[in-house]
Amino acid sequence: MRTVQSSALCCLLPASFSPALHCLVLLLLCITPRCQAVQAENVTVLEGGTAQISCRLQKYDGSIVVIQNPRRQTLFFNGTRALKDDRFQMMLFSPTMVRITLTNVSVSDEGGYFCQLYTDSTHHQVATLSVSVPPEIPTVEVKQEAVEGGEAELTCVSPRSKPAATLRWMRNGREIPGVVSQQDNGKTFSVSSTIRIPVERKDNGAALNCEALHPSLGGQNRVRRYRLDVYFAPTVRIIPPSGILREGDSLSLTCSITGNPLPRTTQWSKINDTLPERAEISGPTLQIARLSQSHNGTYLCQAQNNYGRAADYYTLLVYDNVSLTTTVPTTQLITSHPTTSVLPSSSIAPEPRDPGAVVETHSAVPYAVIGGVLALLVFTVICVLIVTIWCSVRQKGSYLTHEASGLDEHGEVQEAFLNGNDVSQGKKEYLL
Ligand SMILES: *[C@@H]1O[C@H](CO)[C@@H](O)[C@H](O)[C@H]1NC(C)=O
Ligand SMILES: *[C@@H]1O[C@H](CO)[C@@H](O)[C@H](O)[C@H]1NC(C)=O
Ligand SMILES: *[C@@H]1O[C@H](CO)[C@@H](O)[C@H](O)[C@H]1NC(C)=O
Ligand SMILES: *[C@@H]1O[C@H](CO)[C@@H](O)[C@H](O)[C@H]1NC(C)=O
Ligand SMILES: *[C@@H]1O[C@H](CO)[C@@H](O)[C@H](O)[C@H]1NC(C)=O
Ligand SMILES: *[C@@H]1O[C@H](CO)[C@@H](O)[C@H](O)[C@H]1NC(C)=O
Repeated sequence: MRTVQSSALCCLLPASFSPALHCLVLLLLCITPRCQAVQAENVTVLEGGTAQISCRLQKYDGSIVVIQNPRRQTLFFNGTRALKDDRFQMMLFSPTMVRITLTNVSVSDEGGYFCQLYTDSTHHQVATLSVSVPPEIPTVEVKQEAVEGGEAELTCVSPRSKPAATLRWMRNGREIPGVVSQQDNGKTFSVSSTIRIPVERKDNGAALNCEALHPSLGGQNRVRRYRLDVYFAPTVRIIPPSGILREGDSLSLTCSITGNPLPRTTQWSKINDTLPERAEISGPTLQIARLSQSHNGTYLCQAQNNYGRAADYYTLLVYDNVSLTTTVPTTQLITSHPTTSVLPSSSIAPEPRDPGAVVETHSAVPYAVIGGVLALLVFTVICVLIVTIWCSVRQKGSYLTHEASGLDEHGEVQEAFLNGNDVSQGKKEYLL
């Protein structure tokens, strides 16, 4: 912002003159030797920067030039330093221009700097120095913690700027309208913008930006990146081992826990029992080496933070080395409950399925087949028997005839037997 303020000490004209006439009169008057003039330029500078205050001279005739600060203290008297302030330097004193610089400008340096020809104290020019204070990167204050299902209240603060900065909350390129408040701290302003947004678990870690816009930044907004921290109760899930477990195997259960804040500790326990002596807990993992059937039971993993607690359980069944055959589908034998339950009611009543029942239902099918085969066999045998009996009945006549002839053949033996012991040797021989 650089504007030229012009007024000739000898060229004061009624404002009612038209611009063209004004110029003409100005020109006519200024060609006279008495017509000295000074022009001052308004200047805007960033805080901490260096301001150049220039007084343009016209028809300078060697008069004393005085430069004064806004409090009308004389800084330079015809080129000589008058006020002891090293920040002011006389840079140029020529018949056409007097220029001083002010380094490390602060807002208190603001105001009108007077360029004056000593010969005429009534007429002077004022160069207005404006100091612009760009905002720092704003800060984010959490007014209300973001808890799942609730609302987050965030305030973006830009404590100091001049003119007042504009604050803008952005999420994924879209502006979130905020409630803006502005406070005048004398020369500078503090600005804040407060937003309230509903939050869910999925919003945890979401990126929000608070941008401070300011004319002195030329579009280079000052941006504060903020990650939404949404607090939520833990979730717990036991990752079960695959396959069946037999005596002598080792068990490794890992408890997968989420939550914000993440629960620091994992509690392992066994329902209605104490944890086995051999159980080793390291962080979220429970390990039992050399399983035995006494380890059967329900193991519970629990975690909690300030927002709630959760648990998951796993029912361990240890099989002996012999009773199971490999034909049993192993996946059906694992009893795990991956569902997570928040535990206000402590009634976790797991229903461990009895894999023995599974075994039975599966072996029932081969038994039925065997039974069928057996029935068929019995039927066949009966049929054979019937046929045999029928055949024997049909041949009965010839059989009886043959028997009778046999009797004739051995009549001698029978006779000898009935008659006494003398022929017992012979009888024996015949019978065998
Ligand atoms: C210089 O700034 C002052 C104060 O802000 C203002 O009144 C004046 O009009 C400005 N001069 C020009 C030429 O813009
Ligand atoms: C003021 O300073 C200028 C430039 O140094 C010089 O030409 C002029 O003579 C001085 N005027 C007086 C009255 O000392
Ligand atoms: C600039 O001025 C400020 C006070 O206005 C001061 O704290 C700072 O040290 C100064 N810097 C320099 C480089 O002089
Ligand atoms: C089962 O087998 C493991 C080795 O595979 C053995 O250490 C364990 O003693 C056996 N248990 C029984 C009851 O036979
Ligand atoms: C624990 O014991 C209670 C009472 O004796 C019983 O009702 C419950 O079913 C048991 N839970 C387990 C998992 O064995
Ligand atoms: C452990 O579980 C297995 C499988 O259900 C079962 O066969 C065994 O009898 C159980 N042992 C004990 C001591 O409960």
